[in-house]
Amino acid sequence: MRFILNSPLDMHLHLRDGGMLKNVAKFSAKEFAGALIMPNLLPPITDTQSLLSYKKRILKAVTGEKFTPCMCLFFKESYTADFLEKAKPHITAIKLYPSGVTTNSSGGVEQIDVKKLSPIFEAMSALDIPLCVHGETNGFVMDREKEFGAIYEQLAVSFPKLTIIMEHITTKASAELLKRHENLYATITLHHLLITLDDVAGGLLNPHLFCKPIAKRYEDREALLELALNGDKKAMFGSDSAPHPVSKKECCGCAAGIFSAPIALSALAELFEKHNKLTNLQAFVSNNARDIYKLIPIEKNVTLEKEEWTVPAKFGDVVPMFAGQPLKWQVKCVS
Ligand code: DOR
Ligand code: ZN
Repeated sequence: MRFILNSPLDMHLHLRDGGMLKNVAKFSAKEFAGALIMPNLLPPITDTQSLLSYKKRILKAVTGEKFTPCMCLFFKESYTADFLEKAKPHITAIKLYPSGVTTNSSGGVEQIDVKKLSPIFEAMSALDIPLCVHGETNGFVMDREKEFGAIYEQLAVSFPKLTIIMEHITTKASAELLKRHENLYATITLHHLLITLDDVAGGLLNPHLFCKPIAKRYEDREALLELALNGDKKAMFGSDSAPHPVSKKECCGCAAGIFSAPIALSALAELFEKHNKLTNLQAFVSNNARDIYKLIPIEKNVTLEKEEWTVPAKFGDVVPMFAGQPLKWQVKCVS
């Protein structure tokens, strides 16, 4: 059994920099036609010059592969309309992080005052630059995304022409909110389609499944599955593959992030097949993103075959999702 995906896209990917970039970028570049690259480096990517030199380093790390890194700036309150106009040709989106909610987000926005920030949102709207948002407050860990809902609503209503992407949604409430506003869209990760908090902390603690936003309840996972498996046009795949060295995961003070890039397409194929929805995978991993971001990816056909393989225990010093476990589908050829 085999099928072909046309130009799969990963619309939320952490590639890091330096040695880690060299270690991980190839996995996404092999199997995806493009990805939206997250800007939460240290320091974050907040100007066009560092964005362009980061893009160069990524392109060098993926030499020989048909892969487009779509670049993303890290939202700053100091951005002006003039700055955005000049940045526009080089960027696909801008990512807003509330300060302190996740890895390397301390340079994010302290207090999201939508009215105060409106000149930036107006300019992004006029320039047609999508706004990607890590939608969590600093509240109780299970309620952070739900609490952020009010800000999403305010943004959606105040800037009806602004494309707003609710990144890595994890709750039923977010799935419902998405449907209420025309200009709200969402990325969904592989891991939030597969796990709940039980997998992270219900038995022995599994640091390799610890991520932000934390995986939630069964009913939340059901709501995400309904969107993804049906190829809902407002939802697209964004792996949030976020590698950390094993020393930062298997320790006290474990870093948040799941490294899923090397297994993303295989595991998605297995999941969609299990639910008899393989025909909707193309929409979820490519077509919806093309429509939402108005992008035309490079042509790349990825053939998957139903043939079991075992996920390696480590890639360099990074432990992937499903390390040491069998997966039913394999990427067989890319053309
Ligand atoms: O688990 C996560 N890891 N969530 C994020 O939002 C950031 C990411 C990272 O950069 O490690
Ligand atoms: Zn992320």
